[in-house]
Amino acid sequence: MGTQRILSGMRPTGKLHLGHYTGALESWVEQQNLLDEKGARVYDTCFLIADYHNLTTSLDTSEIYSHTLDMLIDWLAAGIDPEKSPLFRQSQVKEHAELFLLFAMLITSSRLERNPTLKEQVRDLNMESLTYGHLGYPVLQSADILLYRANVVPVGEDQIPHVEITREIARKFNNHYPHPVNGEVFAEPAPKITKFSRLVGLDGKAKMSKSLGNTILLADGPDEIQKKMRTAVTDTQKLRKNDPGRPEVCTVYSYHSKFSSPEQLSALGSDCRAGSLGCVDCKTLCATNISQELAPLLERRRYYETRMDLVKNILFDGEIKAKLIASQTMQEVRAAMKLGELAPIHYHGQTEC
Ligand code: TRP
Repeated sequence: MGTQRILSGMRPTGKLHLGHYTGALESWVEQQNLLDEKGARVYDTCFLIADYHNLTTSLDTSEIYSHTLDMLIDWLAAGIDPEKSPLFRQSQVKEHAELFLLFAMLITSSRLERNPTLKEQVRDLNMESLTYGHLGYPVLQSADILLYRANVVPVGEDQIPHVEITREIARKFNNHYPHPVNGEVFAEPAPKITKFSRLVGLDGKAKMSKSLGNTILLADGPDEIQKKMRTAVTDTQKLRKNDPGRPEVCTVYSYHSKFSSPEQLSALGSDCRAGSLGCVDCKTLCATNISQELAPLLERRRYYETRMDLVKNILFDGEIKAKLIASQTMQEVRAAMKLGELAPIHYHGQTEC
């Protein structure tokens, strides 16, 4: 087997937060840089900006480009290397739309209505009705994944149902349209869940999210992080500095478990429980550790922010590479489906049809 391909993506929502880092970017970078014993890359990685998917929940496109660039800078700041991983917008590779159309024929609307991620979204956003495109969200995502024949898809838990639908579509396609030579056009991709796929928000709510206003941004400097950390919700039963606390219910402790060393973590846990550590000191240390981890990102961000032409070129180059792969896949898809089999008709100079 050749190198396995990894594909993942995000919708362009602007500047990213710590949850995006721990839940996705950090593992994207790790997989991008993973080498085998011979020093060869284990995965071929591509990352897509799902701008079409954004339209499923908002028709306002006025900020889509600035949000795309903000997000791209965060990807680069986190260590995504455009020489290794093509970075591209879905909307710039027309084959996404074409494969989406063909896949739409391979899945029933009742199957899509059963999608738990969609149901959750409809509930959270209080949506009264659904567009045809929104119902087809996982079909478009299937096209994203299978167009590049990805084998592994790193995603958060909420995206697992979409990868499952992708597998079903791949199976259905392969059954109906066997590859003329290899037997199967598509391999079924496997999801890969990241350990810290959900980071608690500063307000203690289940998820760090821009719309809840409970985030630490990757672009935040040390002062901003200290300031935000002071607002973080801790154990509500620990009212005074010397009250014993319960780390297991504390937001700040959950951040420590990600950003502090194991020794620090166990000392913090026991000191908190014993009532010998106050929340203010605990938060200061937590903010310092987060800033330390984000320091290289801030430095890279500064580099790219002052070179916007370079950032735009990175996108342009990534889109050229993506188009090449996508058009090859579509040629095989069309061949397997026997679409466009007829040879072109030559009219010997006549123009009428
Ligand atoms: N739906 C994904 C999300 O909201 C984004 C996405 C679009 C994606 N296409 C993809 C993720 C393909 C993985 C693979 O997080």
